[in-house]
Amino acid sequence: MHPSSSSSPSSAPTGRGHAKVILIGEHAVVYGHPALAAGLSVGITATAQPGSGRLRVPAWQLEATAADDSPVGRALAAIVRRLEAPALDFDAAADVPSRAGLGSSAALAVAVARAAAAARGRSSDDAAVDAAVDEAETIFHGNPSGIDAAAAKTGVAGRFSRAEGWRPVRVHQAIRLCVGLSGRPRDTAAQVAAVARLRERLSVADDILKTLGKLADEACAAVGKGDVDGLGRTFNAAHGLLYALRVSGRELDALVETANAAGAIGAKMTGAGGGGAVIALAPGHERDVLARWKAAGYDGFMAEIAATPEVRA
Ligand code: MEV
Repeated sequence: MHPSSSSSPSSAPTGRGHAKVILIGEHAVVYGHPALAAGLSVGITATAQPGSGRLRVPAWQLEATAADDSPVGRALAAIVRRLEAPALDFDAAADVPSRAGLGSSAALAVAVARAAAAARGRSSDDAAVDAAVDEAETIFHGNPSGIDAAAAKTGVAGRFSRAEGWRPVRVHQAIRLCVGLSGRPRDTAAQVAAVARLRERLSVADDILKTLGKLADEACAAVGKGDVDGLGRTFNAAHGLLYALRVSGRELDALVETANAAGAIGAKMTGAGGGGAVIALAPGHERDVLARWKAAGYDGFMAEIAATPEVRA
């Protein structure tokens, strides 16, 4: 377990951001519909030390400074400005791949903002952390719905909508997911823009987005009852609808097909799509799914969404 942020005289200030999966509702959430997502136990831990605004993420071979003009540099500049912490450097340990549809940019922004907050003696839930993460995500993705940032702050499942924000969702029994990586980087801003263009040309695009939102609420109900089969059905329906919106991709469809052939009861792309990742529900067949993906040339891992015996809304 990693605390969200911590600082003591003997240890450097750190901050943690969670990777996420969107179970149902990506793209629909951009248009005000609900989505169901969960923060994962994997993510990013950032450590702050005295410096001048440099960020290193060795696992991603990434280095940026608050003075450079890259998206990461500009996001870092926004974070240190919001947290009034220009005289810090950050080292980030990532146990999640970048640009894989798993909310890596939001996890990085949350981890760095929380480490900066800890260094400044502020809480990891300080309003300046939220403002910093929102600004960083806008630099990365243009017009984010906010779901990635909300999930990155928590390790639990939640329903998110633009109007109502993040509400924790009761998970009746732990959900084991197989996460398959397409190996093709996703580009969230480009995928969101492609859906916006499709809406102008396909009269039923808005109906599809609305149906995805309805499926998100069905998935919330299934998760609350421990109805794994019901959740699996929403995965399959959502993947078909996302395919119809043209945000899936060759590798993502292959990962879904392979998971189904290995015994999954539901599989879908997760996140913005194009590239990125797939999630599959395959109770009792998780190892088969991961093995078949591996044989087909795709990496994958298991993730668990913990049961919540009691959730305060
Ligand atoms: C990206 O993880 C999810 C999208 O719905 C974009 C967003 O909500 O900002 C595709």
